[in-house]
Amino acid sequence: MKISIIGTGYVGLVTGVGLASKGHQVVCVDVDSEKIKKINAGQSPIHEKGLEALLKKALAKKLFSATADLAFGVQQSAVTFIAVPTPSKKNNDIDLSYVKKVSQDIGLALANKKEYHVVAVKSTVTPETTLKIVLPLLEQYSKKRAGTEFGLCMNPEFLREGSAVDDFTNPDRIVIGQLDAKSGDALVDIYKKFKTDLVRTSLNNAEMIKYANNALLSTLISFSNEIANIAEKIPGANAFEILEGVHLDKRLNPIHSGARINPEVLSYIYPGCGFGGSCFPKDVKALAAFAKKKKYQAPLLAAVLDINKRQPLRMLDLAEQKIGSLKNKHIAVLGLAFKPETDDTRESAAIPIIKELIARKAKVFAYDPVVNVNSKNSHFKSLAIELPGSLHETVKNKHACLIVTNWKEFEKLTPEFIQKEMANHLFIDGRGFFRGKQNEEINYLGIGLGKDKKSTHLS
Ligand SMILES: NC(=O)c1ccc[n+]([C@@H]2O[C@H](COP(=O)([O-])OP(=O)(O)OC[C@H]3O[C@@H](n4cnc5c(N)ncnc54)[C@H](O)[C@@H]3O)[C@@H](O)[C@H]2O)c1
Repeated sequence: MKISIIGTGYVGLVTGVGLASKGHQVVCVDVDSEKIKKINAGQSPIHEKGLEALLKKALAKKLFSATADLAFGVQQSAVTFIAVPTPSKKNNDIDLSYVKKVSQDIGLALANKKEYHVVAVKSTVTPETTLKIVLPLLEQYSKKRAGTEFGLCMNPEFLREGSAVDDFTNPDRIVIGQLDAKSGDALVDIYKKFKTDLVRTSLNNAEMIKYANNALLSTLISFSNEIANIAEKIPGANAFEILEGVHLDKRLNPIHSGARINPEVLSYIYPGCGFGGSCFPKDVKALAAFAKKKKYQAPLLAAVLDINKRQPLRMLDLAEQKIGSLKNKHIAVLGLAFKPETDDTRESAAIPIIKELIARKAKVFAYDPVVNVNSKNSHFKSLAIELPGSLHETVKNKHACLIVTNWKEFEKLTPEFIQKEMANHLFIDGRGFFRGKQNEEINYLGIGLGKDKKSTHLS
C-alpha cells in the first residue's frame, strides 16, 4: 500500500520506517527541512534503538522517502496518517493547532485527487476530535464528503520511546477507530502482516482507549509513589520490598506451570521521582481537562497529577535532610532524559529538579549519556548548569549526587570511586538504581526508603 505520514517525529518516523519494513511504500512529510535532509541521508534525527538501521534498509530498498511537500505526499499515497504534535496548553487541554493545520492541508490536497483516500489520525487527541474537528476541516477544504469520497480513521499509537521500533513492529494490539467499514478496511489491509489483536471500534472509543491506557499506567506510578511517601515515615521501611510483596499477588503476577509470569505492568508499580515524557503527563492532563469540560471533575486524575508534580522535588528534600541548605552546595544530577534509552527530555523529572536546585542556589553539574543539552529545543539550554562531560567528572567532589534517570552506564559508579572521590558520599536515588548494591560507607537515600540507621547530618 502507498502511505504518507504527516509529522516525522518519534511516532511518524518510527511508523513510516516500520511500515516500509513490512513492504509498504512510504513517504514521510515534515515542515522541518533539516530533519528531512538527515532522514533522506539515512540518519535518524532521534536516538531510538534500531531505527537508523531500519531507515537505511528502507531507503536502500526505495520503499521510503521524506519530503516537505505535503500535497505530493497525499497525491503519492492511498492512506495518510497524521502524526503531528498535540502538546499541552496552559489550561492542560491539548493544542490542536498542528492537527488542524494539517487537516486543512490534507483537505486541500484531497480536493485535487480523484481516487478514494483514507486519512488516519495517529496523534493522541481527546475524544470527539477526529469526528468534530478533523472531519469537518477535511470536508471543508476538500469539498468532498467523508464516508463516501474519502475515509477517516483514528489509529492511536502505543509505542514506547526507547523500544519504539520493536513496539511498532511487534505491537501488543492495533486499535482502529473507523468512521465506516470501508475506512477501517484500508487500515486492516495496511496492518495485515502484523500478528496481534485487532480492535475495530468507533473513532471516539479509539481516542479514549489511548487516554484510558496512559491514565491507568500513570495512576499505577502515582499510587506506588504515594505508598513510598508513606513508607518513608516508617523507620527502616523499604517501599521496594513493600511493593514487591504486592507484586506477588497472583492477580497481578499469575503463576503458570509453577512459575511467575512477571508481567511488565509490574515495572509501573515501583517508587521513583515521578513520570515524565511526551505522553503520560500531557495525556493525563488532557483527559482531566476533557472531563472538566464535560462537567466531571475527575478527582483521581487530579491526584495522580498532584503526586507526580511533587515527586521530583522530594529528591531535594532528601538531600536537605542530610546536608541542610543546598545554597552553594555542588550537586551532580545524573540523567536528563525522562527515561533511559531515549534522548527525549519532555517533562523529564530532571527539569523541575534542576530548576529548584538553582532556585535554592545550589551549583548544578549534570550528565546524560545521550541528551544534547545544546540542541535546538533543549529544555536545559537556558539553565545555569555545568556539563563536565563524563560521568565520573560530574560526580567527583560533589556534595551530593541525584540519580534521576536509570541509565545502565551509571553502574560504572563503583562504591570505591564514590568513597574516594565524592565529598559526602551522598547518593539520592530517584529510581531505586543502587538499591541492594549500596556500600555501608556510602550515604544512600532513596525515594521510598525509610530513614537509614546512620541518621547523621553531613555538612
Ligand atoms: N512520542 C511518543 O512516545 C508517542 C507515543 C504515542 C503517541 N504519541 C503522540 O503522537 C503525536 C506525535 O508525537 P511525537 O512524539 O512523534 O512528536 P514529535 O514532536 O517528535 O514530532 C512531530 C513532528 O511533526 C512535525 N510537524 C509539525 N507540524 C507539521 C506540519 N504542519 N506538517 C508536517 N509536519 C509537522 C514536527 O516538525 C515534528 O517533526 C502526539 O500527539 C503524541 O502525543 C507520541
